[in-house]
Amino acid sequence: MTRTVLFAPSVLGADPLNVGAAVNSLGGNFDWLHVDVMDGRFVPNISFGAAMAGALRKRYPESFLDVHLMIDPVDALLPSFVAAGASQISIHAETEPQLLHSRLSRIRGAGIGAGVAIAPVTLVEQLRFVLPMVDTVVVMSVTPGFGGQSFIEETLEKTRDLVRLREVEGYNYRIQMDGGINLKNAERIAAAGCDVLVMGSAVFGDPNPAEYLAKVRSRVQKCLSSRC
Ligand code: DX5
Ligand code: ZN
Repeated sequence: MTRTVLFAPSVLGADPLNVGAAVNSLGGNFDWLHVDVMDGRFVPNISFGAAMAGALRKRYPESFLDVHLMIDPVDALLPSFVAAGASQISIHAETEPQLLHSRLSRIRGAGIGAGVAIAPVTLVEQLRFVLPMVDTVVVMSVTPGFGGQSFIEETLEKTRDLVRLREVEGYNYRIQMDGGINLKNAERIAAAGCDVLVMGSAVFGDPNPAEYLAKVRSRVQKCLSSRC
């Protein structure tokens, strides 16, 4: 059976003065809404807080809100994103790694999805003891902090490793790739085993985001069904 890949537009790629209009321009043709939270400390940029997640939840009550926390420390702010209505929260393995396991348990305990994210230089091996408990592994394919960067090819190797590990160990996580994804490279990323494609600037930078997404989706699914 052909695998189905999910598409998660990142609102970081939207015009900050018109985020609602940008999401509407997707015409509902998305699976997850990806919300990048940056604190100016873990990454050299500041983006959204829990108020944005809460506003998106209110406006799009049925949507799967995929919150990607690029903040350090995590603990003080985590509850506000749960309360805002996140469907899943991903935290970085590089933030206070000694607390990673308990934080992921806390997220799961809140009844939502738990994701672990790794920056391009972080090894999959570092995740060994949390892989059994996560719903999503976010393989960052650009340096965290900014949209509009180029895809780092070497990170595909981590996706292939995660596919193998999942098979051998019987884990259940989805593999998400985040950063530098567009119409040109989406097929090969999906073919490497990625389950969720995050796309910011490519989708929202296009004059017709709904059409763009539909085009990527159909190319990816066609590619997977022909075992590309
Ligand atoms: C980068 C963010 C990404 C970003 C992707 O730190 O985590 O989600 O929005 O944007 P593009 O698709 O423009 O690389
Ligand atoms: Zn992200």
